[in-house]
Amino acid sequence: MTTTGTGAGWATHAAGLVAALTEAGDLHDPAWAAALAATPRHLLVPIAYRQQPDGAWVEVDTSGPDLELAYSPTTLVTEIDADGRATSSSTKPDLMLRMLEILDVHAGQRVLEIGTGTGYNAALLAHRLGDHLVFSIDVDVHLVAAAAERLAGFGRHPHLAARDGVDGWPEHAPYDRIIATCSVPRIPWSWEQQLGPGGKLLADLKLGASAGNLVLLTRHDDRLEGRFTGRWAAFMGMRHHGDTTLDRAPNAQTSQQRTTTTPAQPWNTDREVWLLACLALPAHLRHGYTLDPATRTPKAATLSAPDGSWCEIDLTTAEDGSRQIREAGPTSLWAQVEHAYQRWQAWDRPSWERLGLTVTDDAQVVWLDQPRDIIHRIDLS
Ligand SMILES: C[S@@+](CC[C@H](N)C(=O)[O-])C[C@H]1O[C@@H](n2cnc3c(N)ncnc32)[C@H](O)[C@@H]1O
Repeated sequence: MTTTGTGAGWATHAAGLVAALTEAGDLHDPAWAAALAATPRHLLVPIAYRQQPDGAWVEVDTSGPDLELAYSPTTLVTEIDADGRATSSSTKPDLMLRMLEILDVHAGQRVLEIGTGTGYNAALLAHRLGDHLVFSIDVDVHLVAAAAERLAGFGRHPHLAARDGVDGWPEHAPYDRIIATCSVPRIPWSWEQQLGPGGKLLADLKLGASAGNLVLLTRHDDRLEGRFTGRWAAFMGMRHHGDTTLDRAPNAQTSQQRTTTTPAQPWNTDREVWLLACLALPAHLRHGYTLDPATRTPKAATLSAPDGSWCEIDLTTAEDGSRQIREAGPTSLWAQVEHAYQRWQAWDRPSWERLGLTVTDDAQVVWLDQPRDIIHRIDLS
C-alpha cells in the first residue's frame, strides 16, 4: 500500500489518534488499532465543511493546513444540500471504532455497510478483513464514485455500489455482519434476510429526530433481536430518491396554556424518555427552540407535527418546579411526552441497555429487560 499524499506526517497524526482513542477507552483491539494507523483519512476527506455560528458553511482543507483535523475524533461534513443540510460526512473515528468493536467483527467474515460516504469505514474494514469481504453501498452515485477512486488511490478495492440501502445488497448475501452508518426509522426486513444464521447487525434506529439509539441485533431463525447500546449516538437519516414531507403550518394563535413538570427538552436530556414518547407521537415530528428576541438565546422548546399540532414549553421553571406550556392543533403532543416520562419513572428510569428490540417480518417490538415485557409494538403493513 502506498501512503503518498500531500499531507506529510499523516502517519504520525494517525498514530496519535490510535493513542487518543485507546486512552479514551474507545479502542481495545490491536487489529482495529492497526487499521486506524494505516488508513489515510485525509485522502478520503480532502475537503470538509465547518458550520459557522451564523449557519454558513466554510471549506476546510484537510490535506493542507488542517491535516490534523482529519486525525481528530471529529465528524467531518463532506456534502451539503441546497437547503444547507449536511447529507454526508465521515463519521468521527471514536464512534466508528466503538461501533466496529461492538459489532464483534472477526477475520474471515463478510460485512455489508449501508452508507459508504467517504469510504473511511470501508477502508478500516478492508484493512481488517481484506477487500474481497467488504461490501458497501450508498444512495448517492457521486459519493460512491469518489470513494472508489480515493480508496483505489492507496490500494484499497472493497466492493462498492450505488443503491438504496433499504434493500441491502442481496446479490452478495449472506453476510456475517451488517453495519448501517445512516439512521433508519424501521429496521428493513431485507437486512434480516441477508444476514447468515447468528449474524449481527448494528444500526441507528431513530423513530424521529434524536428518538432512538444504536441497536445491536442478532439474527435468530425468524427474527432479529437485541438491545440498545449504552452510549447515545446519532447518524444522519437514511434518504430516498423523491423524499418529501408535507407540513401544515402550526397555528400558535389558537393555543391553550397550562403547566407541566416534565423536562422541557427530553431529546437532549432524557433520550430514553424521548424514544418512548416517539413510539406514540406522530411521525416526522420536529423539535426546535424559540429564541428570546433580545438575547438571541433559547427561551422555549418547541414541537410540531405535520398535521399542524404544535406546542411550546418554557425553559424557565417556576419556584414549584413547573413550566408553562402552550399547545395548539388536533393532537396534544406534550401529553404523550408526559405519559412517556411517567412510565419511565415507574420503571425505575431504565437506561438504554434495559431497552431492547425484536424485529419480525410484520412488526418491530420495543421491550424492557426481556423480550416478553413489551412496551410497544409497531405493526408493519
Ligand atoms: C454518516 S455518512 C456515512 C459515513 C461513512 N460510513 C464514512 O465512513 O465516511 C451517511 C451516509 O449514508 C448515506 N445514505 C443516506 N441514505 C441512504 C440510503 N437510502 N441508502 C444508502 N446510503 C444512504 C448518505 O449518502 C451518507 O453518505
